[in-house]
Amino acid sequence: MPIHVRAEMGDYAEACLLPGDPLRARYIAETFLEDVVQRNAERGMLGYTGTFEGSPVSVQSSGMGCPSAAIVIEELVQLGVKKIMRVGTCGGLQPDLAIGDLLCAVSSAPADSTASHYVGGEPHVPTADFDLVHGAVHHAKKLGKPMRVGPIVSSDIFYQPDPDQARRWSDRGLLAVEMEAAVLFTLGALRRIRTGCLLIVSDVIVEGEFVRISDEEMRRAVDEMTELALHAVTA
Ligand code: URA
Repeated sequence: MPIHVRAEMGDYAEACLLPGDPLRARYIAETFLEDVVQRNAERGMLGYTGTFEGSPVSVQSSGMGCPSAAIVIEELVQLGVKKIMRVGTCGGLQPDLAIGDLLCAVSSAPADSTASHYVGGEPHVPTADFDLVHGAVHHAKKLGKPMRVGPIVSSDIFYQPDPDQARRWSDRGLLAVEMEAAVLFTLGALRRIRTGCLLIVSDVIVEGEFVRISDEEMRRAVDEMTELALHAVTA
């Protein structure tokens, strides 16, 4: 039995959603899944298994940042999980992105040491699984949900001390900043599992001011993203 995800082989479905927030994991399980069983509560990292439209699926919280996410992802792999879709939030880096917009990452620049340590510091492009990206795009179109698709960056700092960092990322075409996708995609390659990442823009910088999503906008956006993620991982 792994140390932090205290479950046995077979307790988790092969397809798993990975929100950062434990309470979002519980919300997703209670709102979208049927026949739900709680599989983990160690360190408050809530995890559940149930079914979505008849297909087995799990939802497990990763915590914040690549070090925490890496522990959880490694242990999910030990438990037989083969497909992981992160469902999270991000800061928008492009001027045409608005609060509540939905993104699908194709790759994530590793501005984080955990992802870099996994590849011994060598150049590596943490990249999402094409089938999961394709599935998410297909289902977004089918459900009539606009979604931006492109590269993002995973940072190990939320309160960025460099006031010019966001502009440099933006100038390089990165859509958004978050904190877990780079290690998820790197472990996807190393452990031979499929990984993807859907994100809601939860904050943007407008004229130097940090603007944050409202609770109501967040709930609506989480519902849309979760529905899409569940269709993509169970397809
Ligand atoms: N919003 C940000 O600005 N950064 C994150 O890492 C997540 C949400």
